Amino acid sequence: MPFENVLCNPEWWKSFFAKDRFSYDEIPDLSGKVCIVTGGTGGLGYATVVALAAHGAHVFLACRNRVKAEEAIERAQTDILQLQFDFPNATYPPQKGSEQPYEKSYSGVAGGPKLEFLELDLADMNKAHFAAKDFLSRGLPLHILVNSAGIMMEEHDMSADGYEHHFAINHLGHFVFTNALLNRMRESQPARIVIMSSMAHEIPPSDKPIDFPHLRTSPPVQNEVLLYAQSRVANVLYARALARRLRHDQIYVNVVHPGCTDLQVQKKIRASDSRCFKHFSKLWLRIAYPVRRGALTALFLATSAKVEEEGGGKGIRGRYFTPIAYQLTPNPVTDDVDLQERLWAYSEKAAQGNSKI
Ligand SMILES: NC(=O)c1ccc[n+]([C@@H]2O[C@H](COP(=O)([O-])OP(=O)(O)OC[C@H]3O[C@@H](n4cnc5c(N)ncnc54)[C@H](OP(=O)(O)O)[C@@H]3O)[C@@H](O)[C@H]2O)c1
Repeated sequence: MPFENVLCNPEWWKSFFAKDRFSYDEIPDLSGKVCIVTGGTGGLGYATVVALAAHGAHVFLACRNRVKAEEAIERAQTDILQLQFDFPNATYPPQKGSEQPYEKSYSGVAGGPKLEFLELDLADMNKAHFAAKDFLSRGLPLHILVNSAGIMMEEHDMSADGYEHHFAINHLGHFVFTNALLNRMRESQPARIVIMSSMAHEIPPSDKPIDFPHLRTSPPVQNEVLLYAQSRVANVLYARALARRLRHDQIYVNVVHPGCTDLQVQKKIRASDSRCFKHFSKLWLRIAYPVRRGALTALFLATSAKVEEEGGGKGIRGRYFTPIAYQLTPNPVTDDVDLQERLWAYSEKAAQGNSKI
């Protein structure tokens, strides 16, 4: 049964009704940190960008659309100025009485939040690799990578490389981009990688969590819910395989279900022709998370000192987190190291050598 692992898991219900384990007050000063957030133009990615930049980090919005990204940067500058009471420990805007002037800037040279655009199209592995090279050529360190971009239950399409587009954008593009940045993260450690997944990773059948033979089949043999869910299993498998490869480094890789957010529900209501779905979704909207709250679990993993301190200094690695900052056991199929490695080998071959680590 889909979601059996969730519905029959008392830990999940406990986390659903429990108090939040992280808040905006707990985000530390991030001055000197360089971050990349994929998909920073809207939704959770944008909320993450605002929080990181307000706390002093230099943040790159890795997005496919320059115009949207520049609008998001402009909006973020304004939001950071207006949201001062939501971020009690923020660097920007400067506290009252501070001598530091607040000025808008795209690069932070003038003393404002440091926000920049990095062109990234995850639907094309060559472009994903090029985006990483573009970042590397700037000679900056990289401390925090949040892979927030993604698509969710969209109509069938194929990527530039001929893969089913949920799998391509949610997994393959990020696989190439992230792996190409790893050496820079090693040089910059301690560092964090946060990989977005979803509770939907619980849906695929345990005997075929990833339908390898049909990842390039068009039209697909599965519906868009299963295709989305499959891409989210891939995210958990990749996060666990990557965390294992980085176990001797101070690079903490973890994976997140952010919770169902109001903006995403509204987007699906707008896109749907079904009256039944629209009615059901209005109820859904009542329990959905406001986006800023939804971003908190990824922000916990990206910024909290606890991530490095836990386990007597071993840190939190390769774990699955749900709202707000609860560690849960993911779908048991993701424990399968052979499956993790099969996905890794498949992705590496698909990337045609673009992603060697
Ligand atoms: N929000 C939820 O309820 C929820 C629940 C579970 C999981 N998630 C996952 O969490 C992530 C963020 O969710 P969200 O609600 O913030 O989603 P969103 O508002 O739909 O934002 C998705 C972002 O991904 C970017 N993107 C899509 N395709 C891309 C591509 N080919 N290359 C580069 N960027 C691309 C979009 O860029 P454009 O602006 O150019 O379109 C946008 O910035 C997604 O991966 C989503 O599937 C969300």
